Parts: sequence; structure tokens; C-alpha cells
Amino acid sequence: MLDTSLIALVETQAERLERLSAELFENHTLLVASNRGPVEYQVSDRGIEGQRGAGGLVTAVSAINRYVSPRWVAAAMGDGDRQMASAAGGVAIHWANDNSQFDLRFVTVDKEVYNAYYNTISNPLLWFLQHYMWDAPRTPVIDRQVWDAWDSYKQVNAAFADILCQEAALAPNAPIIMLHDYHLYFCPQLLRERGLPPGSCVTFFLHIPWPGPDYWALLPHPMRREILTSLCQCDILGFQTQRFLRNFLNTCLAYLPETDIDYAQQCITLNGQTVQLKTYPISIDVRGLMALANSDEVRSYRQRLRAYTGDQTIVRIDRVEPSKNIVRGFHAFEQLLETYPEYRGRVKFVAILVPSRLGVEEYQRYLEEIMIVAGWINTRYGSEEWQPVELVVGDNYARAVAAMQLYDVLMVNPIIDGMNLVAKEGVTVNEKSGVLILSEGAGAAEQLSDQALIVSPSDIIGTMEALRTALEMPIPERHARATALQEQVAREDLSMWLAHQFHDIKLFLQADGGTVEHIEISAEHA
Ligand code: F6P
Repeated sequence: MLDTSLIALVETQAERLERLSAELFENHTLLVASNRGPVEYQVSDRGIEGQRGAGGLVTAVSAINRYVSPRWVAAAMGDGDRQMASAAGGVAIHWANDNSQFDLRFVTVDKEVYNAYYNTISNPLLWFLQHYMWDAPRTPVIDRQVWDAWDSYKQVNAAFADILCQEAALAPNAPIIMLHDYHLYFCPQLLRERGLPPGSCVTFFLHIPWPGPDYWALLPHPMRREILTSLCQCDILGFQTQRFLRNFLNTCLAYLPETDIDYAQQCITLNGQTVQLKTYPISIDVRGLMALANSDEVRSYRQRLRAYTGDQTIVRIDRVEPSKNIVRGFHAFEQLLETYPEYRGRVKFVAILVPSRLGVEEYQRYLEEIMIVAGWINTRYGSEEWQPVELVVGDNYARAVAAMQLYDVLMVNPIIDGMNLVAKEGVTVNEKSGVLILSEGAGAAEQLSDQALIVSPSDIIGTMEALRTALEMPIPERHARATALQEQVAREDLSMWLAHQFHDIKLFLQADGGTVEHIEISAEHA
């Protein structure tokens, strides 16, 4: 649990952000756009019910709501969303629960068009590319179907741009438009083409990695040029890490020779528009998470999960996602039980897995692979009284938080990951001074590498040795590392992620002759 000085620090940071937002949004209206929205409507026997959208993007961006109430434009992903959108008839839906409230506009397109945009282009084509997941001698295969889906991707982006422009025109003040993630690569350019009110600002934050130029060569030349050209139409373009930002500069150098690239200032000019590149490592809402961690709901899940724990417990929490490297993580555990039999019967591995993107074949296959490897370990090393691996499948955030409180070792070993918020959530709520095993491929490694045990994601033996080091680590060292990690995350929590973006927007608007003046620059920005 966090000590009181860290809680005070987080509160001070939040207060600063509150002041910054109040001044920034006195004269501006905030529009947010992302594929998945803050609420998803499901059709059930009881009618249509809304529930909080899943995933790191929604969790992080929803926290904006503590400081300003944005209009959020999101895709109608399922039938419930579509029905709500059609009932609203082009007007924003007001969503409110205990913690947040939004005005939500759904973007509705033909189901087949949406399917091609989401299940062919966004995931897998772009997602696999940006996580280095293609098997280059064989995939991707850019055939007629993919080119047609590329048109659908543009069509969905155009539908987003139309609604954003409507909202921008209706907004009482000049809009600040914050675009999120790889689903919306064409929006910056489409917004410029359609025209925005004077004093607007367009930002884009990429939640996932940006690979180096050679890997982008797997995408046909016109596709990659179109993406780059559009992203250069933003005012501010944010990445999770310096590594991804540098990769972007290098990709523009390689494929957009007509740009003027300033490596020192980290900006790019194309056709008279200059985009400023920035890094904003995404983080967690420490206060909100602590409140949930202390709730009765989490306490009751913690009780139930104790039945799954051993003398020591390794935990992992992931979407069922090939880039999360779940199968190699199990192989490392298998090696541990094989090489050091003294752990059999004593150490458990609890994997909390959230099914994801089952419309994409690779994700279905990956879930099957996970089941097979976990079953194999339980058969080979388990007994009637004891099984080494517990798989808990389902989307239940409170249960995941409870599992994070219980670990002795948290395994976060993605092949590559934009950030990985589980690493940050885990160290914040854990109650056992547990050890974090972290892949060098996770964006979080740029911040947490000093106190985590860093592993190469492909290295089963290295990961097994890290597991052993973690399990054998003396308590004082565990405690020192866990405390330092908590402090690191608290210092750079979600309010800092937002504060840095709002601060840069403010500077942009001032330089652009905008209306924001006299905004306090807090110590950490000065
Ligand atoms: O940025 C990646 C992200 O959008 C995160 O929000 C989340 O981890 C995941 O992808 C969710 O993906 P989807 O919306 O396709 O389920």
C-alpha cells in the first residue's frame, strides 16, 4: 500500500492539473476521439445496458473527466452501441456513473465496412506491424481483400472526421481535438481538408509502439506514405517512449523525403504544417486505483483468489494477445519446475486472462495455445491435490486488481508493448512487496528498469532465472525495490501524463496567437 507521503504527492499533482485544466478550458472545448469509447452498450434480456469500455486507452483517457468534461467521439462497435446511436439520432448521448460523465457521439458505419477497418486493417495489419508480429517470409499478404479493407479504413476515418468537424463547428469555444491511436491515422489530414475553426489544436497520441523504418517496409509504399503524411498534419504528435519517437523521425526520413525534419527540436514540417513530436509515457490513476483496491468488491475477490495461491505466487494479467508473450512465460515457468524441482507443490502461477479480438483468427489460435501449454504443465507437474497453473479467464477488473495485491512475482514479459499498465498498476496495489519481472520490450521499462528484473522476451532460460531470482530475493531487497517502484509510478502518474499534454497544448496555442494567457507553469514544467 502507498505511504501517506506518496498519497500527498499524487494529490498535489492532481491539484496542479486541476488549475491548469481550468485555465486551458476556460476558452477551449475539448473533443476526444478513439475507436473504443468510454462506454459500451450491450443488448441483454434486460434491454440495453451500458458498461465501462475495456482497455488501457479508455481507462487513461476517461480520467480526463476528473478535470474537464469532454465530448467523446467513438465507433459504434456492437449492436448495443448501434441501437443507442440510432435512438439518439445524431445527438450526443449523456453517460454518467459514480465516477465520470461524458457526452458521447457514436460513429456508425456499415457493419462490413467496420469489420474490414477493425478486423483486417487495425487488427491485425497495423497492430501486428507495430508490434513486430508479422512472420516476414510469409505474412502479411497484401492482396485485393486487404486493399479493399484499406478503403474501408479510410471510410471509417472519414466518418470520424465528419462528426468531429460537426462538433468543432458547434463547440462554444475553439476546439482542442485529441485523437487516439492507430485506428484513426487518417483523421488529422481529413480534419485539415474539411477545415477547423481558428484557434483549434489537433493532437494525436499513439498508445502502441512505432517500429523502425525497415519494418514499415512490410507495408506497401503508398500505405505508409499516406499514414505518415496524415500524421504530419497534427499540431502535436505524442509517443509513449523516446525510442518510438526516434523511430517515427527515422521513418519520415526514409519515406517522406519532402519533409523538413529537425532532429534537435523534434519537429517535422510538411507543406507548411509543423508537427511537434513529444513523449508522454502513459500511466495510471493512482488515487482511483487505490480507492478500488480498498473496496469491498476487491476484498471479496482477494478472499476467493487466495484458494489459488501457493507458498509463493507468480501472477500475470493480460489480454489474450500474442504480443503479450503468454506462452513463452509459461514455458519459463515449466523450465523452472523442471530445473528446480523443489518449487513443485510450492509455487503457483495464476494467469488472469481477458479474451480479446476473437474476430481475428490469430487471437483464437493463441487462446488455444495458452490452454494447451497450461494444461500440459498441470499434467506434467501437478497432482490430484495441487496444480501449478491456474487460468482465470474473463474481463473483471476488480478481480484483476485483487490478483495484483497477492503476487510475490508479477510477470510482464511482452514481446513489445506501447507501455503496459499492468506493471504500473501491480506495483501500486501489491501488498507483499512483490518483485516485478519486466520485458525490455515494454515501454514501461524506460521508467521502471532500475528496480524491476529486466528480461528479454524470447529468452525462456533468462526468464526462468529471473523467476528464481525473484522467488529467492531476500525480503529487505524485495521491500526496497517495491517501495522505489511505487514511488516512481506515483511521481509520474496519470495526472502527469495529462499535465504534460495540456501544458504543450497551451504552449502551442500561445505560439499560434491563441487566447490562452497567464497559465501557471508548475515547477515540473518550468
Ligand atoms: O492502445 C492499445 C489499446 O487500444 C489499449 O487500449 C488496449 O490495451 C487495447 O488496445 C484494446 O484494444 P481493443 O479496443 O481492440 O480491444
